[in-house]
Amino acid sequence: MTRFFDLMSLPARESLGFSSSPSANHDRTNAGSSMIRLDANENPFGPSPLAVEAAAAALNISNLYPDDDSIPLRRKLADVHQIPGEQILITAGSTQMLSLLCQTLLGPGLNAITSERSFVVYGMAVRASGAQIIEAPMRGDHIDLAAILDLINEHTRLIFLANPNNPTGTMLDAESIEQFIAEVHRHVVIVLDEAYYEFAAYFAERRKVNYSGSLDYVRRTENVVVLRTFSKVHGLAGLLIGYGMVPAELMGYCARMRNTFSLSSVAQAAALAATADQDHVLETLANNAEQAQILGVGLSELGFHVLPTWANFLYCNVVQEAAAFAHRLREHGISVRPLEAWGAPGCIRVSIGTPQQNDAFLHAAQEIARRPPDTRVVGQ
Ligand SMILES: Cc1ncc(COP(=O)(O)O)c(C=O)c1O
Repeated sequence: MTRFFDLMSLPARESLGFSSSPSANHDRTNAGSSMIRLDANENPFGPSPLAVEAAAAALNISNLYPDDDSIPLRRKLADVHQIPGEQILITAGSTQMLSLLCQTLLGPGLNAITSERSFVVYGMAVRASGAQIIEAPMRGDHIDLAAILDLINEHTRLIFLANPNNPTGTMLDAESIEQFIAEVHRHVVIVLDEAYYEFAAYFAERRKVNYSGSLDYVRRTENVVVLRTFSKVHGLAGLLIGYGMVPAELMGYCARMRNTFSLSSVAQAAALAATADQDHVLETLANNAEQAQILGVGLSELGFHVLPTWANFLYCNVVQEAAAFAHRLREHGISVRPLEAWGAPGCIRVSIGTPQQNDAFLHAAQEIARRPPDTRVVGQ
């Protein structure tokens, strides 16, 4: 009998599997389920009605292969961001763009650097390319740019910075990024993953902080790639569509590595329509900022420690074993993400939902806090 283990490429053999959801055994797409899902940073209001309408129209011509160059969407994004269309690559989620960058720039003997307690897909994509992922320690709950700089060597080709970071929700301001880029040698490409850009920009305006000047680097064709997605503020996670803004030469290489027709016409049509629905975006952002405040206060009153967020989720130390806490929340019909696998066994990440969802979450958390378990884990 064939033993497939013996046939595997080294990266396939050594890559660890990852269950993307604590509710992996639960059908996330089951519309009939009453589970309140605050575990994947999705838009609690759903997609824009304009996007749904456009997607339905695209379904009618789904006998045809999609536009492999995503021309109308690329034109629209070029206009919105004032970046030449030749520097925009639209992909099946920003995670596909991460894989393309790894396939293009990495291989055995090379490495990529990120921070500890950051987006899990960086490690997965790097290992799948046969390269090594190196995680820099954090400073408290913040990405430590100096620690990342210290780890760069001649074999480094990529640095991933999630900004805001998932799961801590922390943000690196424009000045820190500017200084960092100036110090990184030109053999390294810096990926600024701005999946939560709109949320951070909204907070930054109100908090009078300079969040991101990332697109200036792409316009100046520096060694910087910026990632954005339609999965978060636009509520199109189920269609998986995102994009990278990339120096033109690198873009050519990444485009070569793509599968043909990897992006459905339904996703392209929905994304294009979503860009036109500012009301939907603003409703989402206003709710997020207001509810972040309410949730933060409610959780603090329970004696939990909440980090100020720049995204659509909160990082919260529940001062007890988070996995058990999350388990008990599920019994109340609420799913959040416990962060033991990120090295934070006392913390959860909870997505900011609608006022009703957050209210239900706070009530359940109160109930659980009133009857604490025996084991208490202090620390992260
Ligand atoms: C930092 C970060 N980047 C990228 C993504 C995924 O984006 P997409 O759905 O476009 O693949 C996520 C999703 O949670 C994320 O947290």
